[in-house]
Amino acid sequence: MSKIIDASDQAIRDFGKSTSVFNHDFASSGLFTDEKLAELIERYPREYYMINTMTAQGDKPEWRSGEINNVSGDKVLQALTEGRIWLALRRFDVVCPEYDDLVHQAFSEMEGLQPGLKTFKHNSSMLISSPGARVLYHADIPYVCLFHVRGRKKLWLYDADNKEHLPDQTLEGVILRETEEEVAYKEAWDKDASEIVLEPGTALSWQLNAPHRVDNLDGLNVSITTDYFTPFAQKKYGVYYTNGIMRRKLGMSPKSTDANGLGAMAKCAAALAIKKSKIVKVKERTMVSTFTLDPENIGQIIDLPESQRTEIVQM
Ligand SMILES: [Fe+2]
Repeated sequence: MSKIIDASDQAIRDFGKSTSVFNHDFASSGLFTDEKLAELIERYPREYYMINTMTAQGDKPEWRSGEINNVSGDKVLQALTEGRIWLALRRFDVVCPEYDDLVHQAFSEMEGLQPGLKTFKHNSSMLISSPGARVLYHADIPYVCLFHVRGRKKLWLYDADNKEHLPDQTLEGVILRETEEEVAYKEAWDKDASEIVLEPGTALSWQLNAPHRVDNLDGLNVSITTDYFTPFAQKKYGVYYTNGIMRRKLGMSPKSTDANGLGAMAKCAAALAIKKSKIVKVKERTMVSTFTLDPENIGQIIDLPESQRTEIVQM
C-alpha cells in the first residue's frame, strides 16, 4: 500500500529542494498506538535515545538533556503526555527496521514521482513530545522530512540564505558539531518566517539548513523525522566544513559558499581528506545529563546535582 497518499505537483517538484508539504499514511501501519510506542521505548538502548526538557513556550530558551531512569515504557508515555518533555528514539536502522521500512517506502515513492531526485544517507528517529513542548530555533545539517502522525504542532521556517538569521560562521559551527545545532535567535525574525501547522498525516520537508523552531499545540505529539542528503546537500556540507576549518584553524575568512564549480569541488575533496586523516581536531560539543524522569511522580523530573551529572554517549 502506498505511503504517500496525497502530494500536489508542486510538493513533488519541491521535495529535496525547498518547502514541500504532502500527506502520508504511516498511521495505518498500526505502529503508532500507545501500546506500540511503549514497547518501542522499552527496547531502546541508552546510546540511541535522547530525552530533553525545556523552558515553557515564550520563556527564555533553555534546553536540557536527561535520563529515562528505568521508568517503564507506558510510564514514559504518561510522563510525555503530562510533562514538558521531548524524546528522540534514534537510528531506526539499528533498533527498529519495521519503522525504517515505512520511511524507505515513502522515499522510494517520492523518487518515483520526481524523476532525477536522488536521496541517500537516510537516518530516522521517532520524536515523541509533550503537548506543551517546543524545539528551539536551530538548523539541521542534512535535509529533513518530518512525517507527523499524532497531535498538532506549529513550525516556523526561516530562510537558510538570510545571513542575518544564519551567519556562515554559525552554519559552519553546526556542521563541525561545535554546538547542539541551536543558534542565536531573535523574535523579530518571526515576521520573515513561514508558519506551518502540522496535523496528523502531514509530511513536511524544507530548504537545506533552513533554521526552524517548533511549538506543540495540543495532544501527545508523535512524528518520524528523517535526515537525508542529496548530491547538492553533500556538496554544500563539504564547502561549509572546509570553510569552517579554514576560519578556525588557518585564521582565514572564506567568502565563497558556492556549492558548485571548481572551488567547491576542491573544498569537498579537502573536507573528505581532513575527516579521513583526523589531523585536524575539531572541538565537538559534549552532552551531559542534568535530570532524570521521576519514577514516583510521573510527569515530573528530578534535577541531578553536579556530582551525579554524567556525559551522554550517543552512537
Ligand atoms: Fe530540526
